[in-house]
Amino acid sequence: MKMILLGAPGAGKGTQATRIAEKYGIVHISTGDIFRANIKGGTEIGKLAKSYIDAGKLVPDSVTCEIVKDRLSKDDVRNGYLLDGFPRSLYQAEELNKFADIDLCLNLEVDSSLIMDRICGRRVCSCGESYHVSTLNGSNICAKCGNELYRRDDDNPETVKARLSTYNVMTAPLIAYYAAQNKLASVVCGTKTPDEVFEAVCEVLDK
Ligand code: AP5
Repeated sequence: MKMILLGAPGAGKGTQATRIAEKYGIVHISTGDIFRANIKGGTEIGKLAKSYIDAGKLVPDSVTCEIVKDRLSKDDVRNGYLLDGFPRSLYQAEELNKFADIDLCLNLEVDSSLIMDRICGRRVCSCGESYHVSTLNGSNICAKCGNELYRRDDDNPETVKARLSTYNVMTAPLIAYYAAQNKLASVVCGTKTPDEVFEAVCEVLDK
């Protein structure tokens, strides 16, 4: 299975991607995570990416497409992969077509009124787990690995507004793009819990 997970910022892509990768035994590739690892490591890519990420804009295509192309050339993706956060524009989708043959684009539909609270209340762990403050009962410790949780630099109201605007202009057109290729499946998340969304996702994937 070679699939794309599409959705607005805060739609729950990371939350669902972890579960999908585990259940279906495929590799989870998140361009956002790759950029954050580069920022943490102080690489040239990280230095470049940070200015765009902090502004809620897309990191330039030349850098992003090259990173994904290189990642998809590794042996571990042979049994399938899940792209989380790529492609994010029609240009990136066209580039992806040149080096990959995608089976499915799974779109997580989420009400935009929920997004600001979800993202600004998000706390993440270096192990990859993600939480919402409302579920932490005042704790700041990851239940999975015991490390301290932190807030992403781009999870502030101003940057979230810019990220949403970038999504609407650059990324949302991909819904029609993959629908036209009969590769789109959408899951309406509404007020479903992450477990309920995952159930709906599995129904689509098991078909
Ligand atoms: P990226 O890291 O991909 O961020 P994003 O797309 O904005 O998505 P998020 O990670 O914010 O949200 P998510 O959908 O994964 O939601 P999550 O599961 O965490 O990209 C960051 C930046 O990198 C971009 O802005 C861009 O600058 C750059 N970049 C990345 N890819 C690029 C590309 N291809 N080209 C150019 N630039 C690129 O959930 C959010 C919160 O909600 C959590 O707190 C979670 O616990 C909670 N939650 C999840 N599901 C539910 C639910 N069902 N009910 C209630 N709460 C829920």
